[in-house]
Amino acid sequence: MKIVVIGGTGLIGSKLVNQLREHGHEAVAAAPNTGVNTLTGEGLAEALKDASVVVDVSNSPSWDDAAVLNFFETSTRNLLSYEAAEGVRHHVALSVVGTERLTESGYFRAKIAQEKLIKEGSIPYSIVHATQFYEFLKGLADISMAGDTVHLPPVLFQPMAADDVASAVGRIAVGQPVNGIVEIAGPEQFRVDELVRRRLASLEDPREVIADPNARYDGAKVSEKTLLPGNNARLGETSFETWLSQPAAQIPTAHRQPTGEAW
Ligand SMILES: NC(=O)c1ccc[n+]([C@@H]2O[C@H](COP(=O)([O-])OP(=O)(O)OC[C@H]3O[C@@H](n4cnc5c(N)ncnc54)[C@H](OP(=O)(O)O)[C@@H]3O)[C@@H](O)[C@H]2O)c1
Repeated sequence: MKIVVIGGTGLIGSKLVNQLREHGHEAVAAAPNTGVNTLTGEGLAEALKDASVVVDVSNSPSWDDAAVLNFFETSTRNLLSYEAAEGVRHHVALSVVGTERLTESGYFRAKIAQEKLIKEGSIPYSIVHATQFYEFLKGLADISMAGDTVHLPPVLFQPMAADDVASAVGRIAVGQPVNGIVEIAGPEQFRVDELVRRRLASLEDPREVIADPNARYDGAKVSEKTLLPGNNARLGETSFETWLSQPAAQIPTAHRQPTGEAW
């Protein structure tokens, strides 16, 4: 089965492409540096030729409110229209647990717009809502600075390893479209400030993390359970401690900052 992975060079995309190939699928990594640009449509028709499934794990290079909205709306419109022309049978998109509750954040308004286009479109779909990736914890500190300190709300979340995200997305991609949302999450709950503090300590990053009940999560007010998945979430196996002991966790992150610079 030919599966095109949009954002196939990114953190989740590169893992997903490898896992799909290991399972014998023809997986194509589509991204600007492989000649496919979902914003302009460049290379899309060729990449999607004879594809059965398209998995969108791309992300906007800029998280500025207007730029990220433009990215997810334009990319998704282009993708769905090229997919219809090529007869694609399943559109899979990766989004975030709690997206619908985070409307105060420009990033999440853009993800809501992406999901709305998919739901209203003609291609059978599966939207995967994942919790925060362990790989994103340092990035979360970076976007939560107030002066020299990191301010985070001490609310619950249930983060997961990018490897487990990729496996779950891969299983969903080769299955039947659910025409709805599937939630995936990690095996344990933590308080956001606590885990970011542990992650920074593991990197010998000296920044202080303050538990601040008034701090926002990427611009959105959150309460105790806003970031938690529901009871039916599929859980990944990798615990935070296991992930932390892996060589990949020794570097700040394996992927890129929203600005496009190396972290
Ligand atoms: N971070 C989290 O904790 C979290 C949690 C749940 C869900 N998610 C979702 O997971 C998804 C993937 O995140 P990630 O961290 O794996 O992303 P990432 O590492 O930043 O990768 C982004 C990918 O998108 C590609 N891309 C950028 N502009 C493009 C364009 N115009 N056309 C085609 N491809 C383009 C990039 O290609 P180049 O490398 O060529 O630029 C790259 O392959 C996002 O949609 C995010 O909302 C994230």
